[in-house]
Amino acid sequence: MRAVLKAAKDRFALDLRGIHGPAHWARVRENGLRLAKHNDADRQIVELFAFLHDCCRQDDGTDPGHGQRAADYAQSLRGHLIDLSDADLDLLIEAIRDHELGRTRSDLTVMTCWDADRLDLGRVGQRPDPARLCTDTAKQKSTITWAYKRSRVGR
Ligand SMILES: [Fe+2]
Repeated sequence: MRAVLKAAKDRFALDLRGIHGPAHWARVRENGLRLAKHNDADRQIVELFAFLHDCCRQDDGTDPGHGQRAADYAQSLRGHLIDLSDADLDLLIEAIRDHELGRTRSDLTVMTCWDADRLDLGRVGQRPDPARLCTDTAKQKSTITWAYKRSRVGR
């Protein structure tokens, strides 16, 4: 996983201290692992998502297509840095590719990845909206409050 994080940092073209950089990735990872404890999402996919989902951004705005670019990059790491079954790779690719689309329904692990990212919106001044979250655990007030407090440190 360390090697994947390094690859993501090497690929990242924006400010490493910016709102979509490694500090965000680390909080997304922590958010996702907390959710996975409750809902049994796949921890390895959640961690890979956290490190890779924003690594191919070209700007800090909406940057349409950054999900697809990151999905393609994740695919390119298979065989040396990423060792997943076909089915698990499909889940990782879907999670990364579509994380920018606002979808709220999919496989449990994919939804957990999206929630982990959306729970970190406090860094840009937004409290996560339960209606835009996917999993029951993420929608709980206690989860949102916990994540929101941590995300504000990233401001
Ligand atoms: Fe993100």
